[in-house]
Amino acid sequence: MGRGNLWKVVLLLGFAASSLAQKTQLQAHLEHLDGVRNPMAPSDEPRLEARRYIKDKFRELGLQVYGHTFRTVLKPLYDELTVSGENIIGVAAGAEGSPVMVVGADYDTPLQSLPLEDNGAGVAALLEVARHYMHETGAEGSFERLNTVIFVAFDLNVKAYGNNHPGKPGSYNFLHQFLWPYINETSNNFAGAIILDSISKFSTKSNSQYVVQEFSDAFPKASSAIANSHNTGDFLAMFTREDSRSIGLANKFTANYEKDRKAQMFRLQSMPVRDGLSFVGVLEMFNHQSHYPFWSFRPSEKLVPLPALLLTDTDVYRMSQDVCDRPCTPAAFLTRGREAFITKTIEAVTNTLLNLQTERLPVTSASGGLGVTTPLFLIACVTVISGIIR
Ligand SMILES: *[C@@H]1O[C@H](CO)[C@@H](O)[C@H](O)[C@H]1NC(C)=O
Repeated sequence: MGRGNLWKVVLLLGFAASSLAQKTQLQAHLEHLDGVRNPMAPSDEPRLEARRYIKDKFRELGLQVYGHTFRTVLKPLYDELTVSGENIIGVAAGAEGSPVMVVGADYDTPLQSLPLEDNGAGVAALLEVARHYMHETGAEGSFERLNTVIFVAFDLNVKAYGNNHPGKPGSYNFLHQFLWPYINETSNNFAGAIILDSISKFSTKSNSQYVVQEFSDAFPKASSAIANSHNTGDFLAMFTREDSRSIGLANKFTANYEKDRKAQMFRLQSMPVRDGLSFVGVLEMFNHQSHYPFWSFRPSEKLVPLPALLLTDTDVYRMSQDVCDRPCTPAAFLTRGREAFITKTIEAVTNTLLNLQTERLPVTSASGGLGVTTPLFLIACVTVISGIIR
């Protein structure tokens, strides 16, 4: 191989690397999610911008888009304040009467928050899961959509704003007003929800994970696993309710998270919440996230708990290894480590949806189910090799 060809190889390898790096659009999404998105903020524009962006993206992907408007009540100081919100819903319809799965993330923020972390990363991941799912079940994909998947970005999670605001959060309104009628008011038509809430913090340092006493009491197994790894915050936490349907969903997700080698960089830590005493102990820690209305669903007097997983980095209970100085830009925020951690979650959620809601198409010579990134990589390799041969 002459010197000219060597340079060609170097250039083309660079091209291959950059085309692989472009496989996620996380940063592009985060550019639209970096402001405080709260109706009590000086400007409501960041929340409205996020809303427009999510709708546009859902439409681009070919989802049926619904804006579900609702009202809720805040109590900033002494007086109650009614505000209106809009959950953004994108439906990937399957066959009639098929069990529905939901993937959701809050797109609003508390007033005092890091908007990229809480929960810009979760929303960006939601958009990426939707994009991969629609690609894999689209004209060029290897899967056929059998069962319906609903992607939803929730507005106004007032339970996360502190101060005990009296209103109901967006996920509660979505569940009661949109989902329950959609599934014809029977939980048999529901396969479960996966909620992405604060999924970007991780650390390989000891004592980056805070374990308070209530937590160890409620999750003895998880706590000893965390203690065994010197309280290292290198895991994604999965909160699940201990009923058979939630456990089934949790097992599927676990299998997908732990499937390939990359998983060994991060752990998945299951946090099964018993519907008993321990439940009370940790209620305060994890009842403000959007999975909770599913667990505590009461369409009438009777409790009808719906299967739902909460995926989270545990938020205030973890110190991130990558510090992002304020003002924290999306480019500075999306370090390689953060991107890897978030991408792992995106892949595991997407594959869980493909497992549960689709069927793999018979393999033809063109579609071998090589996964999302492989075609790009193959094109790059072929280009490189033909460069060498020439
Ligand atoms: C609800 O019932 C309608 C009418 O029978 C049917 O078309 C639809 O597929 C059902 N939805 C689900 C999720 O089962």
